[in-house]
Amino acid sequence: MDEFKIKNVSFLKSCGTYAQSLEVPPLPSFAFVGRSNVGKSSLLNMLTNRKSLANVSKTPGRTRLINYFQLDGYENSIYFVDLPGYGYAAASKKIQGGWDEEISNFLAQTATLKQVFLLLDIRHAPSALDIAALHFLQSSEIPFTIIATKADKFSKSGAHGAVAKLASSLGLTKNDIIVSSSEKGIGRTDILLKVATYC
Ligand code: GTP
Ligand code: MG
Repeated sequence: MDEFKIKNVSFLKSCGTYAQSLEVPPLPSFAFVGRSNVGKSSLLNMLTNRKSLANVSKTPGRTRLINYFQLDGYENSIYFVDLPGYGYAAASKKIQGGWDEEISNFLAQTATLKQVFLLLDIRHAPSALDIAALHFLQSSEIPFTIIATKADKFSKSGAHGAVAKLASSLGLTKNDIIVSSSEKGIGRTDILLKVATYC
């Protein structure tokens, strides 16, 4: 099978709440989830070959909305959905809670959701919120793939070791994880191959 080939990409819409996302015309959807600053927006830019399609910020918590990007392939169209980062410490408790609830609702209720990409920083042990996100996906039986981000921070062999460690801390195998670097373009083909299996 070939990877999903992108003919055209455009920003469609930002939704402030899960309820608003119900108004978006249905297309197969792929969501990007992870703690604030893990590299969701950078990955979207890398996957779509657009420098600044999604906002990238050194300030965590920048993406506060459910952002829809429409990708037109040669045969069909899909959405990539950039979700608000969780665990942004400086946000008020109310907003933090709100984000998680919105994310949970979105993930559990979006009928067109084909796959969730859960991003984890390759350098760090998963946080309690990361583990909670993983358990939520597993218990809700939502298809997901783990993406280990920022692999350029390691040498190739260092990245191998780090992924093995990450996998065992999650109770998963190395094969359950796609290694990526938005800086180096690593992981793009594997992710777009995964997307193509649902199109
Ligand atoms: P929120 O929108 O706050 O949830 O963050 P995000 O997950 O969208 O992260 P974003 O893409 O904005 O990246 C956060 C920071 O990590 C930025 O300073 C990026 O330049 C950096 N970053 C993202 N991806 C990579 C990567 O592959 N390698 C390296 N070295 N840095 C990265
Ligand atoms: Mg972002």
